[in-house]
Amino acid sequence: MTVPDLYNRRFVLFSGKGGVGKTTLAASFALSCARRGERTLLMELDAKNKASSLFGVGEIDEEIREIDDNLYGVAVTPAEAMKEYALMVLKIKLIYRAVFENRVVSSFLRVIPGLNELVMLGKAYYHTQETDENGRQKWDKVIVDAPATGHGIFFLKIPSVITNLIGSGLMFEEANRILELLRDPARTGIAIVTLAEDMPVNETLMLTEVLTDEMELPIACVIANAIYRPLFSDDERDWIDDAQDFLCDEESEDVLQEFRGFIEAAKFRNDRVAMQQHYLELLRDNGDWPLMEIPYYFFDRMSFAIIDEIANDLSESLGQTKRQATG
Ligand SMILES: Nc1ncnc2c1ncn2[C@@H]1O[C@H](COP(=O)(O)OP(=O)(O)O)[C@@H](O)[C@H]1O
Ligand SMILES: [Mg+2]
Repeated sequence: MTVPDLYNRRFVLFSGKGGVGKTTLAASFALSCARRGERTLLMELDAKNKASSLFGVGEIDEEIREIDDNLYGVAVTPAEAMKEYALMVLKIKLIYRAVFENRVVSSFLRVIPGLNELVMLGKAYYHTQETDENGRQKWDKVIVDAPATGHGIFFLKIPSVITNLIGSGLMFEEANRILELLRDPARTGIAIVTLAEDMPVNETLMLTEVLTDEMELPIACVIANAIYRPLFSDDERDWIDDAQDFLCDEESEDVLQEFRGFIEAAKFRNDRVAMQQHYLELLRDNGDWPLMEIPYYFFDRMSFAIIDEIANDLSESLGQTKRQATG
C-alpha cells in the first residue's frame, strides 16, 4: 500500500501529549496548506484562543473566521457542538430549548462518557463533508488540534467504543460515519507530535501501537518537535569533553578557567543534542511511519513569523518524505 503524505489527506488530526507542540504544529501545517492554495479550516477542540494568539488575530470562537488567505479558524467546545448537532437533528429551536436547556437534561448529558468527544468529532466530520452552493467540497483541508494524549486516545477511541456498545440508532450511525472517515487512509491522517525526550517518546510509542493495532487508525507521520541543531563538529566535541574533564579534575589556575562558562554551555548543548538524537533513534527503530523533525526556535513570544517558519519546515520535510516514499 502506498501511503499518501499529509498533504494528500483532507482530514488531518494532530495528537500527542500535552505541551509537545500540537497547537503550534497544527497551526503551522494549516498555514502551509493555505499557502499551497488549499481552502483550509483549522479546528481547535475544547480550547479557545490559543490559535488566535499565535496568528495575532482577534478571538477565534465557535464562528468560523478568516485568519489569512485561504485560512480559516474555529474553536469548538462540547456545549456549542452539542447545540449545533442537536439543532441539526432536532431541527426545531423550541424543542432544543425544551430538551437541552433543561437543567436536569443538560446535567445528565454532561456525564454521558464520550458524548462531548463524539459531538466535537461530529462537527469536524460535518466540515469534511460540507459543500458550497455549487455542490463542491467547501474545505480542501480540515485540520484538528486534538486534546492531549491521555484524553487524546480516549477522544479518538470514542467512535469505535460507541459503535461497539450500541448496535443501532442515531448515535450509532453518527459514530459509524465518523469511524469510517477516521479509518480511511485516503482521506484521514493522524500526525503524532512529540518531543525527543523520555516521557513523550514512550507515550508516543504507546500511542502509535494503540492507534495502529487496536484502533486501526492511519498514522500519517510522527513529528519530533523542538530539535536542537548540533553546533559543533566531532573534533570540537572531543575538545569540549576534554576541556570539561580538565576543569572538573583540577583546581588549576589554567587559562581555561576563564572560559568555564562557555565550556559548560557548549557541553550542555552537546549533551542535549546527544540526548535528542538518542530518542530520535528510538522513534526510528520502533516504527515504520515517516518521522519529521522541527527545529527548536528561540523567541520571546510565539508569533506569526515563527508559525510561518515552521510552516516552511513542514512543507520542506513533507516534500522530502514524499520523495523518499516514491523512491
Ligand atoms: N519548535 C518549537 N521551538 C520552540 N518552542 C516551541 C516549539 N513548538 C512549540 N513551542 C512552544 O512550546 C509550548 C507548547 O506548545 P503548544 O503548541 O501549545 O503545545 P500543545 O498544544 O501540545 O500543548 C508553547 O509555549 C510553544 O510556544
Ligand atoms: Mg494545545
